[in-house]
Amino acid sequence: MEKRWGGVFREKTAPSVEQFTESISFDWRLYRQDIAASIAHAQMLGAVGLLSAEEVEKLTKALEDIGLMIDRGELPFRQELEDIHMHVEQALVDRLGELGKKLHTARSRNDQVATDLRLWVREAIDQIDKKIEALQRAFVARCDQDEGVIVPAYTHLRRAQPVLAAHMWLAYCERFGRDRERLADCRRRVNLSPLGAAAIAGTSLPIDRDQTARALGFAGILENSIDASCDRDFIAEFLFCLALTAIHLSGWAEDWILWSSTEFGFLSLPDAYCTGSSIMPQKRNPDVLELVRGKCARVIGDLQTILVLLKGLPLGYNRDLQEDKVPLFDAFDTVSACLEIAAEVVSAARLDRNILQQAVEVGFLDATTLMEFLIRRGIPQRDAHHVVGRLVRRAIESGRRLAEISLEEFRQEIGDVGPEVFSCLGARNAVQAMQSAGSTHPEQVALQVRRWKERLGIK
Ligand code: ARG
Repeated sequence: MEKRWGGVFREKTAPSVEQFTESISFDWRLYRQDIAASIAHAQMLGAVGLLSAEEVEKLTKALEDIGLMIDRGELPFRQELEDIHMHVEQALVDRLGELGKKLHTARSRNDQVATDLRLWVREAIDQIDKKIEALQRAFVARCDQDEGVIVPAYTHLRRAQPVLAAHMWLAYCERFGRDRERLADCRRRVNLSPLGAAAIAGTSLPIDRDQTARALGFAGILENSIDASCDRDFIAEFLFCLALTAIHLSGWAEDWILWSSTEFGFLSLPDAYCTGSSIMPQKRNPDVLELVRGKCARVIGDLQTILVLLKGLPLGYNRDLQEDKVPLFDAFDTVSACLEIAAEVVSAARLDRNILQQAVEVGFLDATTLMEFLIRRGIPQRDAHHVVGRLVRRAIESGRRLAEISLEEFRQEIGDVGPEVFSCLGARNAVQAMQSAGSTHPEQVALQVRRWKERLGIK
């Protein structure tokens, strides 16, 4: 088959080169965008008089048909046709003959692929956003389910202070909320049209870039044709958004791997979400969570790939850019899959209230509230810290909790104090003692839950 670009060539392309340079094996995923952008382009060519109304109609119809054919898997992909753009065009020529060859008027594959990619990323952003939202909903639903349950919060992976489980679920929601904001911000830069930049310099033909931009739902056009033809910042940005989402997922996965271990025992994962061992019959492993944690590495790698791909590229389109799709598709697929399974696991897991009730009374989680009780009585923080440190030592040595120390002993350390000292001891009291905005006090947490329900439109 003669190449579209073959005019100047005397020799046929080596089969090894065709194999090496093809991208149809992965960029077929852009076909819907390629068809949509081609239709918009054809209609614009009609509007400015470069095609007749009849020609536009035929092209539009044929492009739609080709789209349906690809939907049904009926368009064979051929290495020698390089990429999705050539496949669509060849199918057009097969149907319409000479007319099919007119579609590429005032267009280059450079602005074509840039347009397809922006349309694809725009849709990908919307899909990821929905999936993150579904995960947030799962966490918010847990807040009701786990209402009143107190869990230990950790710093340095050592028990720190008691908090409401819902407080922790909403901490994840906040992270994912920022991920969604970042995606929305990224989307603004994605949603501009490069179409009409042509190869690099624009075109001497009287095209209307605003028309194609509008037809494709872009908010406007990219102003500089050189930049428009080769900018891939938007892919790097999108992959950063995905990488950070993957990092947030992996942090959550790690928390729940620990929490569901025999050592912690705070959380149980239903059998449907565990996998077994081929040799140890007793094992129920958290492979799903481990893979969420592990797949994050791939996504960070994808971000790295696009950054290194772009580094040092001269201005203008370079074929290196064909490689942008590999990490793009991989990161999208990986994060999509992780988000979906994460939402399921979040809904399916159960807290073990008995174990948690005991756990929050071990490890002096109320020491900080006791210290603050002393501060309220006028003791300088540094001294209060020391006094409570001595009380903790006393408790450790006698195998007691702070709440089990006698009033007599408190008086030895603190001086004049009444039984009100016990009102800040024990996990529930420590939680109740909180006051600050955003703290784990039940009212503060209830406020957060209400806000999230409002934001997510949950009744
Ligand atoms: N398959 C190519 C890519 O993905 C399309 C653009 C090719 N442009 C060119 N001048 N060879 O980047």
